[in-house]
Amino acid sequence: LLMEQFTGMDQLEKQLAALFNIERCLIVSGNSDEQEKVIGEFGELVDEALQRQLPDGRNIIAVMGGTTMAEVARHVSPLETAKRHNLFVPARGGIGEAVSIQANSVSALMAANAHGEHRALYVPEQLSEEAYHTLLKEPSIRSVLAMIKEANCVVHSIGRAVHMAARRKMSEEEIVRLKQKNAVAESFGYFFDEHGAIVHKVPRIGLSLEDIQKMPTVLAVAGGKSKVKAITAYMKNAPKQTWLITDEAAANEILKGT
Ligand code: G3H
Repeated sequence: LLMEQFTGMDQLEKQLAALFNIERCLIVSGNSDEQEKVIGEFGELVDEALQRQLPDGRNIIAVMGGTTMAEVARHVSPLETAKRHNLFVPARGGIGEAVSIQANSVSALMAANAHGEHRALYVPEQLSEEAYHTLLKEPSIRSVLAMIKEANCVVHSIGRAVHMAARRKMSEEEIVRLKQKNAVAESFGYFFDEHGAIVHKVPRIGLSLEDIQKMPTVLAVAGGKSKVKAITAYMKNAPKQTWLITDEAAANEILKGT
């Protein structure tokens, strides 16, 4: 599939990677807003990228949640070899969403399909300051958080700001504030405006944006016309080594706006 992408969509992929100043874009034909199979194809590309990118030795792969990631995880295939061992960790704590799309569940499924190991993080993502500091003292939580910070790979999606705020049950007031700040994208618990500037940070436990800056493998997966603003905004300041896996509908719309 990766080879087909290189020939069929080559030009579009190069243009999009150049626009966002990132290492690579992979584009699946179709529109994931309308065709669920497109998200399955994102998953196949993620699988191929992991097969190629993960070095021998011990890898720690941090995995985010969401509906895209839940489908992507279903398409991951065994990644273990005699020399390569992979540990999957959720990139963040649970966020009160449906269990099947929480980072814990998605990373567990990916680990099972990859024949790798998994460690769960049993902590809600949004916490009071007090609870946060208490939990950080817990040895079992500290050890998983330390692994998350050592990850050499992250697989994540990009969401629409207001949609994600509602899904995370943020208050009406907070949603109004996000709208006033023109938030259009959400990823890693950060909200971004259309210039890619961070306008809100959810107090959270897990991977931070700083953590991914130097991570060797960063795979961002998001498509569909509905996510064009979100993808464009987030990608403005995405780490240079990012690979964006998206679809034709989003790619065409993004390039049309340039
Ligand atoms: O955490 C959520 C992602 O940023 C986007 O979620 O794949 O359900 O649109 P989604």
